[in-house]
Amino acid sequence: MEKRNIPIGLPSMGVEEWEACREPIESGWITQGPKVKEFETNFALRHNVKHAFAVSNCTTALHLALVASGVEAGDEVIVPAFTWVSTANAVKYCHATPIFVDINIETFNIDMEKIAEKVTSKTKAIIPVHLFGLCADVAAIKRRFPNLKIVEDGACAAGSALNDIPAGGLGDIGCFSFHPRKSVTTGEGGMLTTNDDEIAVRLDRLRNHGASISEEQRHHGPKPYILSAFEMVGYNYRMTDIQGAIGVVQLKKLDSFIDERQKWADFYKEELKDVKWLKTPEVPEGYKHGWQSYVTYVDESIAPMKRNDIMELLQQKGISTRPGTHAVHMLEVYAKMYNIKPNDYPEAFKADQFSMSIPMHNKMVKEDYEYIVQALKAI
Ligand SMILES: Cc1ncc(COP(=O)(O)O)c(C=O)c1O
Repeated sequence: MEKRNIPIGLPSMGVEEWEACREPIESGWITQGPKVKEFETNFALRHNVKHAFAVSNCTTALHLALVASGVEAGDEVIVPAFTWVSTANAVKYCHATPIFVDINIETFNIDMEKIAEKVTSKTKAIIPVHLFGLCADVAAIKRRFPNLKIVEDGACAAGSALNDIPAGGLGDIGCFSFHPRKSVTTGEGGMLTTNDDEIAVRLDRLRNHGASISEEQRHHGPKPYILSAFEMVGYNYRMTDIQGAIGVVQLKKLDSFIDERQKWADFYKEELKDVKWLKTPEVPEGYKHGWQSYVTYVDESIAPMKRNDIMELLQQKGISTRPGTHAVHMLEVYAKMYNIKPNDYPEAFKADQFSMSIPMHNKMVKEDYEYIVQALKAI
């Protein structure tokens, strides 16, 4: 087979996104305005939640979700040990302590059984992460810990669901990312979701300096010359209207993107079933996977090579791979801060060392998938 070059991710944007930018650019309203509002309304509808607020990225969404949940210095927040570093960083931004919990290697998500061991009188919130687009079992966490605030890290989970309830409406507050590695993107970007009216008011203000009304409301209101009231310390975590315009177009494509990825997930599963050293992801009953990425697990005890050598070999063939994500407790900053050893969270350690994300995105064609399968089988 002729060599192909297949990146690990690629945004699927075209002329519609390009054209959507025209309106905010021509109108001159390019900060948070009508396009952001439209994106929020459509996102809330698609995810079956009462409120959605666009922000600059998912990391700022996580920060605001914790602030709005009342997390402050001295509090503890439960986070999975295997996730992107932002999940823990957001806790640090609140001067609170991230308490790591190991994961279940079958789902790469937080291990329900191990949460209870880590909950103390200081625990204020828990951040289940819907890693790679597979929801964490938020319903079970809610039943077990009814007094904890649940902030969903749904960075990878636009369009995912658990028992027909979309991500973002499973806990108290949902946080999403529109980074280009996600299935729908606005370059950088994030979204907050909630069904709680009081939390909604706080999130809306917190992202806009703490102002009680948005600039758009002020400009179009009866007295545009009167500045807003400020009753809380807020942040500037706004999304631009150019991004909002792109988001409106991208969101319309979300379901077709996921359907296409589901089709190729089935293809990978079937075609790779005889590659015994490579474990492909399982989707438990009742879960709708969003397939932000397709993360496999290399069983080095039977694999012909080490994971990193496999990744190197695939790279030479033009196939980009990545570890699924990293074990945050092993990153120097957290390992030193809390004196943590890699094996304190053995499953997260294994996921860090042996997970391997293989390409899956909506710019790939049949020949790309066939080429990847063939390369893996040849190993
Ligand atoms: C699980 C998880 N949480 C948070 C983030 C941060 O998202 P953003 O880049 O939009 O800040 C990411 C990004 O990859 C992620 O994978």
